[in-house]
Amino acid sequence: MSLLRSISCSSLSFFFIALVITSSSSSATSTGSISGTRRYNAMFSFGDSVAETGNICIVSSNNSTELDVLTCTHPPYGMTYFGKPSCRWSNGRVVVDLIECTGFLAESLFQFGGFGGNDYNIQLLELGLTVEQAMENTPLIVDAIVNGIERLIALGAVHIVVPGILPTGCLPLFLTLFSQPQATDFDQHGCLKSFNRLTEYHNSMLQKQVQILQAKHRSTRMMYADYSSQVYKMVQQPQEFGFRNPLETCCGAGGGKYNFDVAARCGMPGATTACRDPSARLSWDGVHPTEAANKMIADAWLNGPYCTPPILS
Ligand SMILES: *[C@@H]1O[C@H](CO)[C@@H](O)[C@H](O)[C@H]1NC(C)=O
Ligand SMILES: *[C@@H]1O[C@H](CO)[C@@H](O)[C@H](O)[C@H]1NC(C)=O
Repeated sequence: MSLLRSISCSSLSFFFIALVITSSSSSATSTGSISGTRRYNAMFSFGDSVAETGNICIVSSNNSTELDVLTCTHPPYGMTYFGKPSCRWSNGRVVVDLIECTGFLAESLFQFGGFGGNDYNIQLLELGLTVEQAMENTPLIVDAIVNGIERLIALGAVHIVVPGILPTGCLPLFLTLFSQPQATDFDQHGCLKSFNRLTEYHNSMLQKQVQILQAKHRSTRMMYADYSSQVYKMVQQPQEFGFRNPLETCCGAGGGKYNFDVAARCGMPGATTACRDPSARLSWDGVHPTEAANKMIADAWLNGPYCTPPILS
């Protein structure tokens, strides 16, 4: 950890006194050091407007008046670099932006996502779209993810894990809201087939794009992490993972098969206690996995078989 004293000590107190915390990173040789070979794994910068890289705008982002008062949000700030105001008090970058992070980025592991789950939640739960309609937007969603990864690679990221989405049709939330009496809607393990088709459609398109990115950027190491197959396996054979009632929410209300009540979700009145043993459960709150499941997922991403290639391989 390096505190760049030159930044934290210089102050423009006449202007704007703000505490700026920037977590950045560097493995570059510390320029100006006597040995010239000192290496740091990360850089944390505390400072005021001289070192500002955007935090004050985040802090003020829920109050447009406050945001407007910050002159750095107006042109011509940022005209030289970014091409637009970036909440830095300069026409371009500040010192902390320019301490050379390339080596650090190249040696770091990036987990990009999982993204997509909320895009489908909004379409299916809030906009009332059908699974088929949501599927029409899958290329758009996957494209947005790919664009984000391309930007990361352009910045110097090399090792990038890209997770898919969870098996939507096995989540207690969707099971509760969309279960029809027809047995044909369900697969043999009690998951909603059409929703899992959407998951598979998204994930296979994403995995294909990850392969294309790998072919396009040969010096990167792209890894596709498969949430869905592993969680589906946990639903199929829960006892193998030490789980029972894999479709039943641990922290929830409503009882029954799924113990999920959308009006009394975990943490809301009526659902303030968890099941007795969360470590024996897959679903924590009807959407998100328990820590026990997350641990097994992490292990399978690190060592296989649910990450291609495994992170540690
Ligand atoms: C913005 O958030 C802060 C802290 O979270 C809160 O005190 C303030 O009232 C919020 N302002 C608006 C306009 O919502
Ligand atoms: C927003 O910020 C302005 C300026 O600081 C303040 O006068 C106003 O009360 C804030 N509004 C809310 C809703 O917090």
